[in-house]
This record gives sequence, C-alpha cells and structure tokens, in this order.
Amino acid sequence: MNSLLAYCRPGYEGDVAAELTQCCAELQVYGYPVFNRAQGFVVFHCNEEGDAETVGQQLAVSQTIFARQIIVITHYLDDLEKKDRLGPILHAIEASDSDEHTNTLLYVEHADTEAGKELAKFCRKFTVPLRQGLRNSGRLTYKEKPHGRGIHLFFTDYDKCYVGHSYGKQRSAFASGVCRLKFPSGAPSRSTLKLEEAILTMLTESQRQRIFREGGTAVDLGACPGGWTYQLVKRELSVEAIDNGLIDEHLMATGLVNHYAEDGFTYRPKFGRVDLLVCDMIERPDRVAALMSDWLHKGWADHAIFNLKLPMKKRYETVVAALGEIKTRLGKAQHDYMINVRHLYHDRDEVTVTVIKD
Ligand SMILES: C[S@@+](CC[C@H](N)C(=O)[O-])C[C@H]1O[C@@H](n2cnc3c(N)ncnc32)[C@H](O)[C@@H]1O
Repeated sequence: MNSLLAYCRPGYEGDVAAELTQCCAELQVYGYPVFNRAQGFVVFHCNEEGDAETVGQQLAVSQTIFARQIIVITHYLDDLEKKDRLGPILHAIEASDSDEHTNTLLYVEHADTEAGKELAKFCRKFTVPLRQGLRNSGRLTYKEKPHGRGIHLFFTDYDKCYVGHSYGKQRSAFASGVCRLKFPSGAPSRSTLKLEEAILTMLTESQRQRIFREGGTAVDLGACPGGWTYQLVKRELSVEAIDNGLIDEHLMATGLVNHYAEDGFTYRPKFGRVDLLVCDMIERPDRVAALMSDWLHKGWADHAIFNLKLPMKKRYETVVAALGEIKTRLGKAQHDYMINVRHLYHDRDEVTVTVIKD
C-alpha cells in the first residue's frame, strides 16, 4: 500500500480529509481520501509510489490541526484468523521493514469510537506476543527509544488491521495521539483540561518558562467559573478574570485573581498590558480571531491562547479563514509570533490556538 492513515475525533473525518489533501499538495503529493462518517480515522491513498513515505517523513502531526496521529500504511490485512493473527502480521512488518531505520516502539491501537473501544482489551493483550515476536526476529529493539521509528497496528475489527509506521519527530508522542490528563480536584470546571493540554503540548519548555513565572500577568476573557484561571494561578500568574458569571471562591481566595463583570469585547487591561491573554468565550470564530489579533497588535498582551468555537460544517475552512484574519491583522508582525492550531483531545467542537511571541 502507498497510503496514510490519520486518526481523529469521530465526526471530524471530513475536516482531516480536507486538511490532509492540502498538506500533501504542499509537499507535491496527490491522491484521494477515503472515510466513513464518525469512524475516527481517514485513509489517504497517494497516487505515486513512495509518496506516503515522503509525507510520513516530512509532515509533523503537530503542524496539522485535526489529525491526532499520522501513520504510513504498508498493509491492510482483512481476513486474520483467530488461531493465527500473529503470523501474517509479523510477515507484513518484515516485508515493509528497511535497514535504514530501527524500530524502537510498538503501538497496537484502535479508533476512538464505541466500536473501537471494544477492541481495547484485545489490543493490549495482543501487544505482548507481538512485541516478543518482533524482538526475537530483530525487528524491534529491546529498549524503547522515543525518537526511533514506531511500528503501528491499527485494528478496525478482530480480523482487520492496518500495518504501518511513524517517525519520531513527526508523530504525536501519545498512544493513539491522545493526551490523557487527570482532572485536578481543585479546578472549578472540566474546561481546565483544555488549557492544561494546550500548555503542555503546544508550548515548548522555554516558552512555558518565559510565560509562566512569579509576577507574570494575564487576562482571562470569558473566565467563569474559572477552569482556565485555575491553570494560570497554579502557574503563579496574577489574573484579571472577565465574565458576568460567578467565579470560584477558592480562586478568589488565592489573592491572585481580580474578577470584573464586564464585556470581553470592550474590556482593556487595567494596567495597560499583560503577558498572556486567554479567551474561551463562546462566540463566532471571526470575532474572536479579530479580538485576539487586536490585543496582540496593540501590545495589550505579548502572547495569546484561545479557543475558536467551530460551526457544524466546513470547520477546516473556518479555521483557515480565522488564521488568515489573524495574520492579516498582525501584518508584518506575524513573523514575530509562533502560531499553532490544534484540535486537542480535550477540545470538543472547537480548536485551540496559541500565538506566542518569539
Ligand atoms: C465556556 S465558558 C468558559 C469556561 C471557562 N474557561 C472555565 O474554564 O471555567 C464561556 C464563558 O464566556 C462567558 N462570555 C460569553 N460572552 C462573553 C462576553 N462577551 N464577555 C465576557 N464573557 C463572556 C460566558 O459567561 C461563560 O461563562
């Protein structure tokens, strides 16, 4: 096979397909996507031999919006027999292996759907003899190394699986591309996990150190009940929390939060500027994109992290348009920022954008 497999949140297959088609075209790779609604993955068949490998080695999951993981697929096995699944799978992996790369990791995965989750126990159990078989035949190192090539099996049923691989710098570091986080017991809302995932997975260590420091300042637009403010306070920032709603009392008791019942669209920072602007207001994405770029452009905030709530249709196109709006409004200054957009695991019908000053 000469195809790519991208995992996504169920329901976002059309968006991944549109994005993957565009990303491949930028690498001069052409083909066509195939998917069923809500199956949690998309297969992209490339036209020219070797093209899937080219994309797999060049396209980082972190540069995409909707893909959770991207795999180069070499085989699709659709008639695995219960009494010997291992044989044909080992054979497929051997047939597509190359001396150029060392396999250091093994992933046995399934879609993030109800049907997929039924395969979870089987996938876990199957990993053990497969890992052993691969190590015995020298196809997988004994020591796991995060930067090596990863072997992936993606089961769509007990007798059907895709076989493929990913590269260290390009893949998501998380199994199935899913960053699971424990809900912090003191946080006032589940939304807190969206900002935590963004901080942990979309910023570099040096950006985190630069932004989150004692004495740092932030504005949180649409703050109530305070899940995002919780993440900022936890990282020692003083926060101006803007919302007509009620804010969590424990957050107020930290002494690091000032709550203003004002409109997020007309609010201005009390002391002229802050280090970080965050925004989780439920509003049209073009309005939020314009507001965020104005804050950055006018120097009211150095960096911004925000959600863009997505419409039911043409979500990829909506995000691309919002990004275009941000870049246009920033003008030449856009080159001073690192802009990332991701549909995070904890996001629902929204994407998270980080705009971080270099
Ligand atoms: C999804 S909730 C935010 C949840 C919050 N990030 C958390 O973690 O707890 C959206 C909030 O935006 C607020 N909001 C919507 N429009 C607003 C506006 N124009 N100005 C200020 N707040 C607004 C709503 O009152 C609501 O509390």
